[in-house]
Amino acid sequence: MSMKKIVLLNGMGPGDDDLASAFSALTDILDQEGAEVNSYPLRDMKVAHCIGCFGCWVKTPGVCVHSDQGREIIQAMIQSDTVILFTPVTFGGYSSSLKVIVDRFIPLILPFFGKYHSETHHTPRYARYPRFVGIGIQRSESETEAEVFKALVGRNAINFHAPSFCADVFHVDQEKEALQEGIKGLLSGSDPVPVAKDIEGFAPAVRGVFRSGETGRAGNALLIVGSPKIKDRSTSSILGEYLTGVLAAKGWESEKLTLKASLNREKGKKELCTAVDRADLIILAFPLYIDALPYLATKALEVISRHLESRESGRPCGLFTLVNNGFPEAHQNALALAICRSFAEQSGISWAGGLAMGAGEMIGGGKLLTQTRRSGPPIKHVIEALDRVGEDLAEGRVVLSQAQRLISKVPIPVVSSGIWRWLFPRFAALFWKAKARKNNVNAKDMYVKLYAD
Ligand SMILES: Cc1cc2nc3c(=O)[nH]c(=O)nc-3n(C[C@H](O)[C@H](O)[C@H](O)COP(=O)(O)O)c2cc1C
Repeated sequence: MSMKKIVLLNGMGPGDDDLASAFSALTDILDQEGAEVNSYPLRDMKVAHCIGCFGCWVKTPGVCVHSDQGREIIQAMIQSDTVILFTPVTFGGYSSSLKVIVDRFIPLILPFFGKYHSETHHTPRYARYPRFVGIGIQRSESETEAEVFKALVGRNAINFHAPSFCADVFHVDQEKEALQEGIKGLLSGSDPVPVAKDIEGFAPAVRGVFRSGETGRAGNALLIVGSPKIKDRSTSSILGEYLTGVLAAKGWESEKLTLKASLNREKGKKELCTAVDRADLIILAFPLYIDALPYLATKALEVISRHLESRESGRPCGLFTLVNNGFPEAHQNALALAICRSFAEQSGISWAGGLAMGAGEMIGGGKLLTQTRRSGPPIKHVIEALDRVGEDLAEGRVVLSQAQRLISKVPIPVVSSGIWRWLFPRFAALFWKAKARKNNVNAKDMYVKLYAD
């Protein structure tokens, strides 16, 4: 196996010491192979979470605005041949300790869009990229979560132009020899990339009620906004607030909690758990970050799940997920929905369904939704979808797929989805260049390659 330079991202979090033997099985193999390894124990490092400012594209192109050890890792990654993502499988996704750096990958690509595997993805900044190897460790077996994990590594590989990828999931108590055999296979192997049809079915629509016996009684909704944006109003908060408005019209009470860095401290965790304890329904609204939930939302799921484990009863009845992404295809949110669904199942909360919106940045600064309802294109379909969702949730019903079909509609009337997807990258290029110009960055400088050719 020729691996040459390896970057090893160790996503073991504070409570994950039981993964230490699996991790040393991996490092033993890398030693035996004589690979040059840069290993990053993320939980002990200073890496700020991405705040979705896009400064790494339009202000300081190619580098994150946070000057911390995250920059060093990103530089090492693009100069490596293989990046290994080692993590406890967390509801099918990565641990928050790993996700904090994964969200910081975006300066490695350009803001501009291209077509890859018939989907929209960002164009490459650099001429060559490392391959991705994903090693997930499970404490209790879940075939579904293992499939979601492997697909997630593959989707990341697509987004970051990896020449190949390979991923698998192992049990924490697996025999060392078997584990090492498996890891060796991953280091030299290659999996087929998961395209649209491979991920679409991961969060299937369900039917039924999530508040059986309580239909008719208005409840309390907790809107958790998982967008880390601090300067602009996020699309997540705009969509979430509209939805809680629909619930309020049906007599529901609601409160809103926006996740912030305070979640890294006891006070923030407590605030979140206390709010969860008051809720009948959680509405989790977040943007798609690197094919999954952003760091803060990932961390929130970990915190809530641990909190609910210690409770005999009194948990919220339902979780509804509202996710929006930058690319025009809403199906790219499928793995994020699957992660939320797994979280709900593991935490004893009913999955009330999810709604995924593509091209979420179109709801810029919330201007469109503050106009009168049904104000016409381009967001009439979004409002209609949210109205339906609100009606269902208020009655304790699981949200069905009609709302998803509505929100996925092409926003411009009489324009086909093919033309919309052709127009979208062109509009987007103008949008990013205008943003850069405002920071005195000219279009040519947006393409800068800081760390390699
Ligand atoms: C770090 C980062 C990673 C992102 N990853 C993806 C992605 O994998 N797929 C996608 O379609 N959009 C991605 N986006 C775009 C966001 O999902 C999009 O901008 C969204 O509309 C932001 O919503 P918000 O205003 O609620 O934060 C990413 C954005 C950032 C900052």
